[in-house]
Amino acid sequence: MIPVLPPTAPVSESHITRVHHVWRKAREEKTPEGRPPPCRALVLTGYGGYDKVKLQVTKQGDAKLGPGDVLLRVKACGLNFAELMGRQGLYEPLPAPPVIMGMEGSGVIEAVGEEVKDRKVGDRVIAMKRSGMWQDVVAVPSDLTFPMPENMSFEEGAAIPVNYISAYLMLFEMANLKPGKSVLVHMAAGGVGIAATQLCQTVPDVTVFGTASASKHETITQGGVTHPIDYRTRDYVEEVRKISPKGVDIVLDPLGGSDTQKGFDLLKPMGSAANGVTGPKRNLMALMKLWYNQLSISALKLMQTNKAIGGFHLGYLEDDELINRTMSELLELYRQGKIKPRIDSCHHFEEVADAMRRMHERQNIGKVILLTEPKKKD
Ligand SMILES: NC(=O)c1ccc[n+]([C@@H]2O[C@H](COP(=O)([O-])OP(=O)(O)OC[C@H]3O[C@@H](n4cnc5c(N)ncnc54)[C@H](OP(=O)(O)O)[C@@H]3O)[C@@H](O)[C@H]2O)c1
Repeated sequence: MIPVLPPTAPVSESHITRVHHVWRKAREEKTPEGRPPPCRALVLTGYGGYDKVKLQVTKQGDAKLGPGDVLLRVKACGLNFAELMGRQGLYEPLPAPPVIMGMEGSGVIEAVGEEVKDRKVGDRVIAMKRSGMWQDVVAVPSDLTFPMPENMSFEEGAAIPVNYISAYLMLFEMANLKPGKSVLVHMAAGGVGIAATQLCQTVPDVTVFGTASASKHETITQGGVTHPIDYRTRDYVEEVRKISPKGVDIVLDPLGGSDTQKGFDLLKPMGSAANGVTGPKRNLMALMKLWYNQLSISALKLMQTNKAIGGFHLGYLEDDELINRTMSELLELYRQGKIKPRIDSCHHFEEVADAMRRMHERQNIGKVILLTEPKKKD
């Protein structure tokens, strides 16, 4: 979850009503029938399977845009692993249902609050929010909107915040990536994995070991992974050691559990493990197993091995300034052609279950995107 906002209350009728009314006012003159088209939102209605995320039409009513907010007409949204977990009640930062899901998106500003000076109606922006991005129109603090480069598509814009901020902060702020270093990236064909691989390539002579299903190796190798490893049929520790007997300098570990110990053992002296800890948890049993096997290590042990471990969770990072600075750097890297999100697939809001299933069943290579544009009927 995006840290920089106050906790979002579970969505209520009045909230939906308020937001829609502002949007209606902003678009009133543009609707030929004299009434606004329906405003839709993807609402988590309870914990469980794919059917718990429902596309609901929201009502009209009164409401106010906060003085520091902008009203965004959303075009594209990012789907994150966290939302798969949130749907199952396994992601703490997501408010309890009913709640509109979604942490990142892109779109066009339709109205600005009275204190907003640096954004205007018509601006194309990327936006972040603790939850609530998966809807046609949303009010967002202007501080958490980022003007999009001209050549950036809405799909690309929506793919940047969570994946690239996480990868950037773990690699550069936490693990201090330098030229000539080696990095082990787990889930290298996923959104964060591809972001991390691209960011590694912005530093000279970095070797990337990337774990992924074998069918994805060609793509990730083209994307910059030096040594792809099929973790499903091989022991990735042995595979790394065959190529680099001394191990690696950095491990990005979203797996947790016993893999954290394996990653720690793989580190060279002075190496760092940036531990994402959210892990590929599919259900409660897997989650319990993960926590049971969680690495526990003393400061003395770290000292005796000359290694570092850092914990990173974007959902608990409450630092607007850091988020803003990181987004500025990422957008500059995009302008320079050094990073470019790989869009795996785009799904209309009506197809949210297909989008979630695609990620859950490990079919994606890169980012899964949701589109607000209604699906055309056949
Ligand atoms: N700490 C943080 O702040 C933070 C922020 C963002 C993401 N993350 C974590 O980073 C990881 C990657 O996130 P993402 O959004 O980029 O997702 P993602 O990697 O795009 O999505 C899933 C991919 O992970 C691989 N995978 C490995 N084990 C899996 C399993 N048990 N179930 C399903 N897929 C599995 C699959 O690829 P293969 O076919 O190659 O296995 C799958 O295609 C997740 O664990 C997420 O929770 C942490």
